[in-house]
Amino acid sequence: MAKTNAGILGTGHSYPEGVLTNADLEQIVDTSDEWITTRTGIKQRRKAAPNEYTSQFAVRASREAIERAGLEAADIDLILCATVTPDQILPSTACLIQAQLGANQAAAMDIVAACSGFIYGLSLADTMIRTGQSKYTLVIGAEILTRYVDYTDRGTCVLFGDGAGAAVLGTVEEGRGILAAKIRSDGRYEEQLYAPGGGTKGGFTAETIARGDHFFKMKGNELFKVAVRSMADVSREVLDYAGLKTDDVNLFIPHQANQRITDAVASKLNVDSSIVYSNIAMHGNTSSASIPIGLDECVEAGRVRKGDVILMASFGGGVTWGGAVMRW
Ligand code: ACO
Repeated sequence: MAKTNAGILGTGHSYPEGVLTNADLEQIVDTSDEWITTRTGIKQRRKAAPNEYTSQFAVRASREAIERAGLEAADIDLILCATVTPDQILPSTACLIQAQLGANQAAAMDIVAACSGFIYGLSLADTMIRTGQSKYTLVIGAEILTRYVDYTDRGTCVLFGDGAGAAVLGTVEEGRGILAAKIRSDGRYEEQLYAPGGGTKGGFTAETIARGDHFFKMKGNELFKVAVRSMADVSREVLDYAGLKTDDVNLFIPHQANQRITDAVASKLNVDSSIVYSNIAMHGNTSSASIPIGLDECVEAGRVRKGDVILMASFGGGVTWGGAVMRW
């Protein structure tokens, strides 16, 4: 009997109209276009308007992915939405997306794994499809990070942007689709990137809001080192598992956190910069949305051909990290 493989059947992405440039940030905090560009590679990021919310962009990206997969929303039986910026605490953003899509046959849940959320979702979708528990899984990464950014903290506010990306997965022929996916975490590094307010521990009161406890706090320098090490290690791990070498990779889509992190990972893996995708200049760090947005941009640009080997790797708050390798 042929082995069942899970693969991506369609992709989509969406982001807000609003643009926040480095020049705009120069008016808000003590920073400069020169510092942001040389230290991060970011030139602009998308910023949602006050009346916009996460699921709106997730739904637009999902509709595109479902259509490109040649399916209807009613065909989807599982929705996994990776986000750390949900519409609201309850119900899950995935359930709100399910209703807006009219995906009436779908179970729905959120994945809270920060920037690694989309890779976590791919890994779960792979298992659910291979074990026959899902026929068509919709995996989404969607964030409005600018809502949780402290615009008095120049160390974080220049980094993050908003957007959503989605992929529909289903069975594909043997030898194609997801060849390996690994997900990991180490909660001892909690304070490298965290938001202490808003939960049962930190509380949600006028005082915690006034203190800005709900905003992201980050030890960027320390996270930088963990990011480079974890993304390079997990990339090697998934390639080994799939019996592939870095030379076999046609396209590497790393999480878009900082151009210097991307360059360092590529150099550790010894992959040529020509196969490394980067959209950090235009989007900044969109957390769980960064890889699916990047993937869909590559698909739209004709950068992905049938049979290509695509490597993806991510790290994020938690800390979490993960990698996946697939044959398109
Ligand atoms: N503009 C101007 N100066 C700045 C800014 C800014 N926006 N931010 C920091 N600086 C200053 C600092 O105050 C410091 O000044 P000092 O030397 O006088 O003390 C100096 O620049 C250097 O600061 P560093 O933090 O050492 O700068 P670094 O080169 O490490 O860059 C950065 C900082 C961009 C945050 C980098 O460490 C990084 O990208 N880290 C990874 C962060 C990350 O990816 N986070 C997301 C994780 S994914 C997720 O889960 C959402």
